[in-house]
Amino acid sequence: MKKTFVVLVIAAGIFILTAFTKKTTVDNEVPYPEAYRSWTHIKSAIVSSKDPSKEHSRGYHHIYANDKAMEGYKTGKFPNGSVIVADFIEMVENESTITEGKRKFIDVMVKDTDKYKSTGGWGYEEFDGDSKEKRIVTQAKAGTACYNCHAPQAEKDYVFSKYRE
Ligand code: HEC
Repeated sequence: MKKTFVVLVIAAGIFILTAFTKKTTVDNEVPYPEAYRSWTHIKSAIVSSKDPSKEHSRGYHHIYANDKAMEGYKTGKFPNGSVIVADFIEMVENESTITEGKRKFIDVMVKDTDKYKSTGGWGYEEFDGDSKEKRIVTQAKAGTACYNCHAPQAEKDYVFSKYRE
């Protein structure tokens, strides 16, 4: 009787462990890029108010790259572990200046050729406002929401921006 109980407990343990491991590998969530504003600044651009269809991305965007991604910007081939962030910030038009408002969202690309095979080796995610948890895209939609537009850049490892020395 005792033996059966022990076997059952072990079986239940294995079941729970497998379920947990499966969940973390199936989701392949892009992690929040902590402290990305201290990384290398690649470039900035402003999406102006001229085109009403660009409402979502209107305002500043600053692009930042971690050290691994910097290797990619320099060699053209981004190693696994590369992370690039496009930081979208509101634009406040004052009398004679334009200044930054609130953070709107951040777009993140993470290179992992095993996890993100179907989207060119990059994981894509958009985090809302200042939130580190609120994912706007999720992996199920990354292909249509992000990758499709980056795909024509395949020769440049799917990255549009260039680093200026
Ligand atoms: C309509 C086309 C389009 C879509 C859709 C798109 N991007 Fe981009 N993305 C661009 C362009 C163009 C740039 C370069 C912007 C610049 O140089 O200032 C860019 C830049 C980036 C960058 C900086 C690295 C690079 O390629 O220069 C990241 C990170 C990024 N996008 C993530 C995303 C994520 C995440 C999504 C989905 C939520 C997404 N993008 C959807 C066109 C797109």
